Amino acid sequence: MMLQQGIPLEREPFPRKSRDYKPPGPQSNKRLRVLGIETSCDETAAALFDSQTGLLGHAVHSQVELHAMYGGVVPELASRDHIKMLLPLIDEVLRVAAVDIDEIQGVAYTAGPGLIGALLVGAAVGRAFAWARQIPAIAVHHMEGHLLAPLLEPDPPTFPFLALLVSGGHTQLVRVDGIGAYAILGESVDDAAGEAFDKVAKMLDLGYPGGPAVAALAEQGWAEHYQFPRPMTAKPGLDFSFSGLKTHVAQVLRSVSGDGHQHRADIARAFQDAVVETLVIKCRRALQETHLSRLVVAGGVSANRALRAALSELAEEECCSLHFPRLEFCTDNAAMIAFAGCQRLLAGQQEPPVIQARPRWALDSLMPV
Ligand code: KG4
Ligand code: ZN
Repeated sequence: MMLQQGIPLEREPFPRKSRDYKPPGPQSNKRLRVLGIETSCDETAAALFDSQTGLLGHAVHSQVELHAMYGGVVPELASRDHIKMLLPLIDEVLRVAAVDIDEIQGVAYTAGPGLIGALLVGAAVGRAFAWARQIPAIAVHHMEGHLLAPLLEPDPPTFPFLALLVSGGHTQLVRVDGIGAYAILGESVDDAAGEAFDKVAKMLDLGYPGGPAVAALAEQGWAEHYQFPRPMTAKPGLDFSFSGLKTHVAQVLRSVSGDGHQHRADIARAFQDAVVETLVIKCRRALQETHLSRLVVAGGVSANRALRAALSELAEEECCSLHFPRLEFCTDNAAMIAFAGCQRLLAGQQEPPVIQARPRWALDSLMPV
């Protein structure tokens, strides 16, 4: 096997067909059991998805304790921990799902975007596993995994739909016409929404990981105390910018006296309200411009309770259906990777025996299914 990094980003070399594997067509009802692997950042995860019976099992190991003392993810420590945890996690998922290793017919692993060293662990294990067992493997785009996660739920949305992706690294509004048919309508020009939550958490001494801690503190804050800006909402367009909002928080913290608990809670509340309202305004605009009637929201920030409530109101007002992943599939997991990879393997896509990771990878360059 070759080890490659930073392969050109366009629509090759995925997918290709090997001589031995006869993929089922998209209409086929052939059963495919896929092992999913996720190691793009600070969670190691494995899952088993069966195209006929659904999710058979999944497990996530969080590295929060490992990185907490540094106030953020340390890439080298992340890679080393993935190496330590991934094989035991795969064993655990197989054991709990009572699935024999021989019954796995395909492997799906996150190949990007993410931390290069972390991605390479999942890519090496996933690709080597497939090579050793002579089964196909597919490299999955992490954000495609997030985007398709609501399709694991009992009442999945049909295509086309509008997707709001809000994670630690991305904030995007995407028109989704099918698997792999993605048009980016708008995205953050600087910090992602999750990143802004994490940076504000640091300013408020809430440590890492920041999003859930800011959300918890915001619940104790008064909405009336501060009104923070809703960035880029006055102008037309669907792009986002959250870095000015973060600077605004820093300025308020510096200039307004008061360092008690309530003061910090009020700031967290004003920040969260500003992010949520900004996301709602842009979603409303995108729904009205595209005339789509289904809205999917995914990625770590979609776990935020205030955002879920505000988007539910929006969906009612705009008469559209709203689809979230269940809470445990909002943040990083391998169930979404196994699911996304399974759809591509079912359509006959796979890749050659090459270990590759793509730290940067454009969502709209993917091959449609
Ligand atoms: O999707 P994800 O698990 O990883 C990436 O692909 O980046 O998203 C992680 C991000 C972090 O920035 C985290 O602070 C944020 O999602 N997050 C939240 C909440 N839960 C996670 N942000 C706000 N409220 C939450 N409840
Ligand atoms: Zn993610």
